[in-house]
Amino acid sequence: MGEFAVPVLREETMSNGFTIPILGGERRRQVLNEVLKFKMRPDDVIVATYPKAGTTWLQEIVWLICNNADTALARKVKLTDRYDWVEGGEYRPTEGFKKLDSRPMERTRFIKTHLPFQLLPTELQNEAIGKLIYVARNPKDNCVSFYHFLRMHKTAHEPGTLNEFTERFYRGNVPRGSWFDHVEKYWQISQERRSNMHIVLYENMQRNCKEEIRILAKFLEKDLSETQIDIIANHCAFDNMKDNDSVNFSHFVAAGVFDDSVSKFMRKGQVGDWKNHFTVSQNQEFDDVLRKKTKDWTLKFDFE
Ligand code: A3P
Repeated sequence: MGEFAVPVLREETMSNGFTIPILGGERRRQVLNEVLKFKMRPDDVIVATYPKAGTTWLQEIVWLICNNADTALARKVKLTDRYDWVEGGEYRPTEGFKKLDSRPMERTRFIKTHLPFQLLPTELQNEAIGKLIYVARNPKDNCVSFYHFLRMHKTAHEPGTLNEFTERFYRGNVPRGSWFDHVEKYWQISQERRSNMHIVLYENMQRNCKEEIRILAKFLEKDLSETQIDIIANHCAFDNMKDNDSVNFSHFVAAGVFDDSVSKFMRKGQVGDWKNHFTVSQNQEFDDVLRKKTKDWTLKFDFE
């Protein structure tokens, strides 16, 4: 791990009583408490995900839908400068909600978050304000992708072996907490009352990206031509995004935060890669946990 100290993950309770494992440190807890008080604007666009569910992919698509498929501008300005990570100040003091507050009133703000619904700005939890897009991915691929990400991330905590990591993934003892609770809560909210909320499944994006772009454009109230839809789908295809320095996090590699000799940020981008990782018995165990934890869910995932 070289010059970086590996931070410890600790269960912390936020000011609204919600408990979640975070990388230890008082500042991080303070930032999450500040996010609860963050002031939303009616035309905010928020992309929320459990980490490694396809955030970057959807961020790029959503931004292009909202910006007339302007791929030239998208290549020029890094995704991390087009979106602010609302809880990002947890890691970099000048980022996140502070930067969002300084964004001009007349421009749409693009916001990324991995927070569970219960830690979103309270205003966003209570009101249908802005447009909230949640991306979910089947938990086996999500878990494997998260594992590789933590391996290559030099300032995240160590995932251990895949066996150890899956065990912690089941228990929710990973950054951003339980996948099951995260997805279930956003799904429930989207079903109950959110006219401003749309759920996208990673696997549906893989199956029919253009159709999902059409649905997203309708949700975002943007008129796109078929040519623009083609341009967005092509620009956002995995093979194109992996070579695009505006979205592939190569600047994090250059800054020494990611070690791409261990694993790439744009790693495989497939449905069913879990099969290359889990043994038969690990898969059975995953299925057992999944069955118990999701027995009442109407939301179903494709695993291959
Ligand atoms: P893998 O590790 O399975 O390859 P996030 O953006 O939430 O961190 O998610 C990263 C995951 O999304 C990685 O999954 C990455 O390869 C995948 N991904 C990124 N861009 C993609 C694209 N254009 N098409 C398909 N998958 C993509």
